Amino acid sequence: MGLLGAVCRRSAALRLESLSRSRGGGRSCSSGRDLTPEIKLRLFTPECTFWHARPELWPFTEPYWAIYWPGGQALSRYLLDRPAVSRGRSVLDVGSGCGAAAIAAKLSGAARVVANDVDAVAAVATHMNCELNGLEPLVCVTDNMIGSEPPGFDLILLGDMFYDEALADSLHGWLGRCVKAHGSQVLIGDPGRAQFEGHRIRGRLQRLARFELPESVREQNYGLTCSSVWRYHPDL
Ligand SMILES: C[S@@+](CC[C@H](N)C(=O)[O-])C[C@H]1O[C@@H](n2cnc3c(N)ncnc32)[C@H](O)[C@@H]1O
Repeated sequence: MGLLGAVCRRSAALRLESLSRSRGGGRSCSSGRDLTPEIKLRLFTPECTFWHARPELWPFTEPYWAIYWPGGQALSRYLLDRPAVSRGRSVLDVGSGCGAAAIAAKLSGAARVVANDVDAVAAVATHMNCELNGLEPLVCVTDNMIGSEPPGFDLILLGDMFYDEALADSLHGWLGRCVKAHGSQVLIGDPGRAQFEGHRIRGRLQRLARFELPESVREQNYGLTCSSVWRYHPDL
């Protein structure tokens, strides 16, 4: 990362630290009302000062990393319930956001975990969330890896990444190449979004688990009621 990137991350870290303190949360900003209450996360919740403010007053634009998305929740629950899925393996969490799925993999005994998100602030949030959970900071990569040379990971995680048609198209092709090049296992968490249900990748997926979402998650996600974990098989 260049000097500019390092400066941006430092500035984001300072703003995040000061926001966490001003919310009076110290270490208790995690909602705890999600599918993985054992993972502590600093999130944007109704208790936070900026929850009720106009978006133009928010200190960060599009803070996806401050929300624990239903797809990521299902994926993290699945990994924590089945540590054998990640134990001893190399894991890449693409679109890692707050880092919950990467943290779940690490807590389950993964040998190597990389969190990848194109938003540099997500990397800062992930490091802070690692600390909250007693973990060494995970390696965070902010390059856009989708479409690049398939990386050699045993397990690739995608929580709630099928929210945009163009992104879903690029993911579909790239994931196929990752599986073919390295035999990577690909797990996707999704709450049944239209862009996911209507995409042709849907015909190449096997459902592994389905979770009912807690009431507070349903309220914040416009009527979504459950979230599932799928395994991608390009040749299905
Ligand atoms: C809906 S959020 C999901 C976050 C997290 N996986 C979860 O389930 O809580 C999508 C995330 O993908 C990231 N993202 C979007 N395009 C990306 C790309 N090409 N490569 C990596 N991350 C990307 C966004 O910055 C955002 O943090």
